[in-house]
Amino acid sequence: MKKEHLYSGKGKSIFATDNPNHIIMHFRDDLTAFNGEKKETCLGKGIYLNNINAFLMDKLAQQGVKTSFIEKINQRESLTHKLDMIQLEFVVRNIAAGTIVKRVGLTKGSPLSPPIQELFLKNDKLGDPFINIHYVNSLKITSAEVVAQAEKISLQVNDIIKDVFTKINIDLVDFKLEFGLLDGELYLGDEISPDTCRLWDQKSKRPFDKDLFRFDLGDVKEGYDRICELLGLKVTIDTHDLQADHQDN
Ligand code: TMP
Ligand code: ASP
Repeated sequence: MKKEHLYSGKGKSIFATDNPNHIIMHFRDDLTAFNGEKKETCLGKGIYLNNINAFLMDKLAQQGVKTSFIEKINQRESLTHKLDMIQLEFVVRNIAAGTIVKRVGLTKGSPLSPPIQELFLKNDKLGDPFINIHYVNSLKITSAEVVAQAEKISLQVNDIIKDVFTKINIDLVDFKLEFGLLDGELYLGDEISPDTCRLWDQKSKRPFDKDLFRFDLGDVKEGYDRICELLGLKVTIDTHDLQADHQDN
C-alpha cells in the first residue's frame, strides 16, 4: 500500500510502502532539461514513461539483468526495490550526439564502435560534471569493482535495449543508467525511458526523445506516444490519470 511521500526528483516522486524494502516510483508530467534550467509540464508524459520503463525493465529481467523494478501498479506508478543509490550516472554511446560532440569534436551522427562509456557525478548543483574512475577512487564515491561491474552491466543493457529498438527501426543513440546496492549486490535502478535515452528514427534520423524538448525540435508527447505505439504498448491517457499527478504532488 502507498504510504508517505519520501522525496521528489526532477521527474519522479518517491513514496514509501508497507514494505520498508519497497518504494513506489510515481512518474510526474514535469519535463526538465539542462539540470532543471529549462522546465515545462507535459500532460500525460509520466504515463508514457512509466509504461515504456516497465516494458524495458521487464525485457532486461527476462535476460537476467538484476533491476530494482518489480511491477507496474497503475498508469503512472511502479513498485521497485529500495536501493542504496550510487551517486554516479553511467552513459553508453553508440552514435555521437549531445555533449560528446563538442567535448571531443565529433560529427553528430557518427557511429561509435565499440560504444563509448562515460561517468558523470550525480550532482544537480554542479550540472552533473564529467568525471572518471580516478575521481571515483580518490573521492571514495564507490569501489572500482562496483564501477567495473556497473560498466559491464551497462554494455549488457545496451545489447538488449538496442536490439528491442532495432526491431522497430529506431537507433539507440545513447542512454544513461543509475545503479544501487541491495544487500551488497548491484542492481540497475532509476528508469530507462525516452527521457534518459536518445532514440532516432533509423531512416530520417528524427529524434523521438527528450531532445525534442531540450532543443525545441518538436512535440515531446508525439515522440513518446510514437515509441509506445511502435513497441506495441497500449497507453491511454484519461482525465483521471492526469488529475492523479496533481493530487499526489
Ligand atoms: P549528454 O549527451 O547530454 O551527455 O547525455 C547523454 C545521455 O544521457 C542522453 O541519452 C541523455 C542522458 N542523460 C540523462 O538521462 N540525464 C542527465 O542528467 C544527463 C546529463 C544525460
Ligand atoms: N536530466 C537533466 C535534467 O532533467 C539533464 C537533461 O536531461 O538535459 O535537467
